[in-house]
Amino acid sequence: MSHVSEHHPGYTLRECAYADVLGLVEEADRTEALLQRRSDDAPFHRIVDQVYGGHHGYQVFVLTDASSRPVGFTMTLPEADARTVSIGPTFISRSLRGKGLGKRMILDIIEWARVRGMARLLVATWGSNRAARGTFEAVGFRFTDEELNTRVNGDSTVTYELALANAVVGN
Ligand SMILES: CC(C)(COP(=O)(O)OP(=O)(O)OC[C@H]1O[C@@H](n2cnc3c(N)ncnc32)[C@H](O)[C@@H]1OP(=O)(O)O)[C@@H](O)C(=O)NCCC(=O)NCCS
Repeated sequence: MSHVSEHHPGYTLRECAYADVLGLVEEADRTEALLQRRSDDAPFHRIVDQVYGGHHGYQVFVLTDASSRPVGFTMTLPEADARTVSIGPTFISRSLRGKGLGKRMILDIIEWARVRGMARLLVATWGSNRAARGTFEAVGFRFTDEELNTRVNGDSTVTYELALANAVVGN
């Protein structure tokens, strides 16, 4: 997985252990960067611990900078349909946002899924999250649904999907 470095020298996305992104998960939690669902009954990092902390088939990815410092993460979950993968919590450290790193990270995930023979990627975020929606839309994800009042602040949950045949390649 080296596409990130082509456009952002020194940045690399790689598969990793959940423990490698704990510091960033805590940053996300501390800065309330990820908006919980009403149905979540614990702080964000506890939810992520439960879901991604070592379960078979779940994969964590870390984005590192030129000094090998973790600056972002994303996660994937297998779906019941074996050729579908969901993208889970996705995060770029605050000072590095808006430079195209989130988009590069998702483009690398698309390539990762394509190499594994996947047909479809799914993702959910909250309705007012322009940055996340812009990121997934920019790489070809299509809006599929909005479920109102599902987040702790009353925000909605929006879902997107990408048929891998329609993905933006390169860029
Ligand atoms: C969502 C997030 C991962 C995106 O990463 P990023 O590096 O900031 O995004 P990029 O710079 O790659 O931008 C990707 C696209 O989204 C758009 N975008 C980024 N930030 C935006 C904003 N605040 N408002 C509107 N559009 C925005 C960009 O214009 C770009 O589209 P373009 O290439 O067509 O111009 C990052 O902002 C983040 O960590 N946010 C907090 C956590 C979060 O909300 N995670 C997602 C929910 S799981």
